[in-house]
Amino acid sequence: MVSKRTRVAEILRRLPFGEKVVVMGWVRTKRESKKGFAFIELNDGSCFSNLQLVVDEKIKDYEKIIKKVTTGCSITAQGQLVESPGGKQAIELQVEHLEVIGEADPGSYPLQKKRHSFEFLRKIAHLRPRTNTFGAVTRVRNFLGWSIHKFFQERGFYYLNTPIITCSDCEGAGEMFQVTTLDLENLPRKDGCVDYSHDFFGKKANLTVSGQLEAEAYALALGNVYTFGPTFRAENSNTRRHLAEFWMVEPEMAFCELDGNIEIAEEFLKTLCAGVLESCDEDMKFFEKFIDKDVIKRLEKITLNNFEVVEYREAVKLLEPKASDFQYPVGWGCDLQAEHEKYLTDEVFGKPVVIINYPREIKPFYMKVNDDEKTVAAMDVLFPKLGEVIGGSQREDSYEILRARIRESGLDEDDYWWYLELRKYGSVPHSGFGLGFERFVQFVTGMANIRDVIPFPRTPGNAEF
Ligand code: 4AD
Ligand code: MG
Repeated sequence: MVSKRTRVAEILRRLPFGEKVVVMGWVRTKRESKKGFAFIELNDGSCFSNLQLVVDEKIKDYEKIIKKVTTGCSITAQGQLVESPGGKQAIELQVEHLEVIGEADPGSYPLQKKRHSFEFLRKIAHLRPRTNTFGAVTRVRNFLGWSIHKFFQERGFYYLNTPIITCSDCEGAGEMFQVTTLDLENLPRKDGCVDYSHDFFGKKANLTVSGQLEAEAYALALGNVYTFGPTFRAENSNTRRHLAEFWMVEPEMAFCELDGNIEIAEEFLKTLCAGVLESCDEDMKFFEKFIDKDVIKRLEKITLNNFEVVEYREAVKLLEPKASDFQYPVGWGCDLQAEHEKYLTDEVFGKPVVIINYPREIKPFYMKVNDDEKTVAAMDVLFPKLGEVIGGSQREDSYEILRARIRESGLDEDDYWWYLELRKYGSVPHSGFGLGFERFVQFVTGMANIRDVIPFPRTPGNAEF
């Protein structure tokens, strides 16, 4: 008895005809032929393709076992790999021994052979990884996660784990989930307000919206660092590109100004896109065929064209003649909405656009105020079809200006004492950005809804699983 399990990906890569192997996985389909054979499509998750198992009725307990083989059940099969006569696949397994490990009642197993809607699959998020689409998304997401580490490690960045629970609001937008152990039915009060000195941390705490502020402290000691972790936003946006819990990649670089920041962001995104095209061929072909027919072309274009760098004020000028076509207003001081971003990337430039130097009023306190005093050294990277994928900036490195900006943003200076001190002791120009990981996975796979590129999405009203 061969005891080691061989994975389907390896079999299809090596095509080891004649070899005896054991495979284990889940049954996608079973078909019984009249000639005394059964055909089983086995998927073990190691790659997109199934392995065809041919089961001869002469094997021991054939009738009994084959009856239990239904879509969704788990099996282990031992046999010999042979050339497949059909031509549909190169190789198949001539089964000598078959065992059902876990049955799946066909009367209730929800994944039948037909195509299911993504809305339906979200309701069974624990089983959807067994579909072609979610298997492919998971493998591509995995590849991207690994490539992100590879990219930064090869360039001497240190991987940094920043706190999940914090007492500061990095983006200053107040969209935070509070973390408390206070009894909500019986809150301690002082002067009419909740007395947070009784709370777990002795003050009001929340889940982080970004690891940036802490990453800055480490960049100002180790030079270049990056975080890759979960972030949380309590914004009540029920859109195709918003999650309440998402993963962000945040590099932070000392001795780096806005130009250097844009350069590394562009190289980063291009490297990731090229890597997927090279390494995820089978899954990408599936996305192209069934999810979005232009997805591969779009990725290739990212690797080939230089990103367009556009001043915010120029972007507004490009949008103004079209103002009546948009739902939201355009003009100096207005934040760019998805419809505006889409117009710039898809209609005007047809490639990624980096918008820089936004009005200070619409950007967070930490961004460096430019010499004009009206704008800050911000950079948003917008992708065709998707919109904003990266938000970043050069950081304010002057103690006095930063202090004024914290106050002007209505934040409490005392909460940022340590962040201010970084400007007091050995301050240097520094920059960084945040890549929304799910937004990027969405772009790469062509999946329309961000809820379908994270295993268990959290959105307003939904934290099932
Ligand atoms: O533009 P944002 O808010 O920037 C920051 O948080 C900075 N502190 C990053 C930095 O400079 N280190 O968020 C960065 C990116 C966005 O461009 C977007 O891709 C993604 O995070 N993002 C979301 N993704 C999914 N759901 C949400 N609710 C998101 N909000 C932002
Ligand atoms: Mg942003």
